[in-house]
Amino acid sequence: MPQKCILVTGSSGFVGQHLLRRLNGSNHRIVAVDKEQPPTFIDEVHYHTIDLSNRPIIDELIADTSPDMIFHLAAQTSVSVSSREPIQDIQDNVTASVSLIQSAVHFSIPRIVFTSTGGAMYGDSSEVPFSESTSVNPQSIYGVSKLAVEHYLRVLTYGTETAVSVVRPGNIYGPEQNHLGEAGVIAIFGARMLSDENVTVFGDGNDTRDYIYVDDVVNILMAAGEKAPDTCLAGTGIETSTNQIFALLASAIGYGQQPIHAPARAGDVRRSALDSDKAGKVWGWTPTTPLSEGIAKTVAWLKTQQ
Ligand SMILES: NC(=O)c1ccc[n+]([C@@H]2O[C@H](COP(=O)([O-])OP(=O)(O)OC[C@H]3O[C@@H](n4cnc5c(N)ncnc54)[C@H](O)[C@@H]3O)[C@@H](O)[C@H]2O)c1
Repeated sequence: MPQKCILVTGSSGFVGQHLLRRLNGSNHRIVAVDKEQPPTFIDEVHYHTIDLSNRPIIDELIADTSPDMIFHLAAQTSVSVSSREPIQDIQDNVTASVSLIQSAVHFSIPRIVFTSTGGAMYGDSSEVPFSESTSVNPQSIYGVSKLAVEHYLRVLTYGTETAVSVVRPGNIYGPEQNHLGEAGVIAIFGARMLSDENVTVFGDGNDTRDYIYVDDVVNILMAAGEKAPDTCLAGTGIETSTNQIFALLASAIGYGQQPIHAPARAGDVRRSALDSDKAGKVWGWTPTTPLSEGIAKTVAWLKTQQ
């Protein structure tokens, strides 16, 4: 296969680092863009510390590198931050994305793969599991921003040479997820349990989510770039409650304390699970990592961080 250039935004983040490592195994030239420095560097990757909202600098980078594909992962990723700081969410999720899309279209980049959301795209009134035919009804600013970007992608690329694939993942987890932030319950609970600290559960803990292991997400991103452009959910179809996550982690770690309960947070949906049959049919993707195995791998990594 001739060498291609692949540009990854959000490359210093959790999923971005995993994707960079997967791409690095290919023969391609990899360009990484993030407004933050990466926690670790891969020798062969070309890193750029840029805010995507800076259109002239993004134009310059895209003109210089002429990527065949852009994996657009950069985002403000916390629902609760989006409730507290909606303008920041709109800047990082909407304004920055529109700037990137305009630049990609201007330079006729053949493909954009966008990581949207499955977990925050649907509301409490819809039946679980959600599928691509479920009416979208985001309940958080974060979900609204992701949906807006899906629409901007459709409108701005219409009739152009840029094709778009959209992946809507559930709750992604795995090694290297930030355990000091406000998103990523498995990383946060796991790190606190390993330090024998209190663990706070928002609400009664019966809220459910569809937890999808990061390697499975990298697999669907690769498929979304290689196969025909489309929009697909990426989940296991299994609902797991926060209380179940607490119990699984407590058992894996040997944590003896009970959780502390705090009021439910604005923007959080009650139940979520994603039917990913479409991704199987159109992209040949199915998740392969069971939750128990993914949690064991995540706990093993968290132990190395103590
Ligand atoms: N982690 C999940 O559970 C989950 C679930 C569904 C969808 N997603 C989506 O997947 C993608 C990756 O998620 P993640 O968990 O790796 O997030 P992350 O927070 O670990 O990484 C996001 C990265 O984007 C960068 N970024 C934010 N705004 C930027 C800007 N304006 N310019 C340049 N860089 C910017 C941040 O610095 C960060 O390194 C995101 O788009 C997220 O919304 C994540």
